[in-house]
Amino acid sequence: MQEPHVRDSLGSLLRSWDGEEVIIRHDAPTGAWIAIAIYSTRLGPATGGTRMRPYPDLTAAVRDALHLAESMAYKFAIADFPRGGGKAVIAVPPDLRPEERPALLRRYGSLIKGLGGLYETGPDIGTSPEDMDLIAETGAPHVFCRTPAAGGAGDSGPATARGVFEGIRVVCRHLWDGDVSGRRVLVQGAGSVGGRLIELLRAARAEVLVSDVDERALRRFRGEPGVTLLPPHAVLDTPCDVFAPCALGGVLSEETIPRLRCRAVAGAANNQLAAEDDAARLQERAILYAPDFVLNLGGAVAITGVEALGWPAAEAEERVAGIVADALQHILATAAAEGITTVAAGRRLAESRLYGELHSSSQL
Ligand code: PHE
Repeated sequence: MQEPHVRDSLGSLLRSWDGEEVIIRHDAPTGAWIAIAIYSTRLGPATGGTRMRPYPDLTAAVRDALHLAESMAYKFAIADFPRGGGKAVIAVPPDLRPEERPALLRRYGSLIKGLGGLYETGPDIGTSPEDMDLIAETGAPHVFCRTPAAGGAGDSGPATARGVFEGIRVVCRHLWDGDVSGRRVLVQGAGSVGGRLIELLRAARAEVLVSDVDERALRRFRGEPGVTLLPPHAVLDTPCDVFAPCALGGVLSEETIPRLRCRAVAGAANNQLAAEDDAARLQERAILYAPDFVLNLGGAVAITGVEALGWPAAEAEERVAGIVADALQHILATAAAEGITTVAAGRRLAESRLYGELHSSSQL
């Protein structure tokens, strides 16, 4: 029987989570909620970006942080990298004034500092290297991707995009025995990762379709040869070879999967599946799904590698490209050999590193 105090949705959400710890703070001066989810510190300090945006309520914000923190643990485990998984969400009021932002970020920085290295952060949706500078004013040395002027390695978007691009190449070899040249790739979201991915795809002579809810992000691609702009409502129904979600998560669901007209989904967005069953739904439709936590590990791993492990900056993108390609090839081969979903195969690989070879919770 459930006790009354955990019958509410936030209580049951936290109760059913299998991560280590969640820190929740109300920021009284702005009315923002800060949630830091520590999924795992088995392989190293819990590391993950800071997502800053409005949410419908606190439960939705915490839910996002919990899922994202778990994905971070899987990314680092896939890369066999000495970092655990965590994530922070700053749920801001929709009317937060720009002048309130720096002080909020500094208060968040001292919260991280107080955790004494348990959690390390970087940018994510809604935060930038400039924001990392502010957070680091009080929270350094646990802040990645500061601006080069402040001694950081800058934005992680290009390295993430490089990993996604490499993943798409593996998918093309697997499905068509060829490269991306001439393939139709639909990129949803032209932000820091999607925008760079479009450039890489164009340089490799793919035919690119692109859509973004923010008109401004599309401006630089207007009139570009080989790039077709799509309105957001057309994304799911437009035929393409590869669909690359590079915006918010949850795009693949019971409602959307039947509409897809692609052969593969391979993109950067975190937590693309709305529910665990969606991996099987994609498999039933013979749509190859490249697990998000494999494709998008490049940014976090490259920057953390450079800033914390002393990787040469000039080699970081090459290294993560190799990590993504090797892991994805292994996962596709395992999934095919055993008749399991690519998500189950990916989880198995990550969990073998997180918990040792014997453990696997993936019976999908
Ligand atoms: N936004 C990154 C991701 O989701 C998070 C990150 C970037 C973490 C850079 C650490 C360093 O993977």
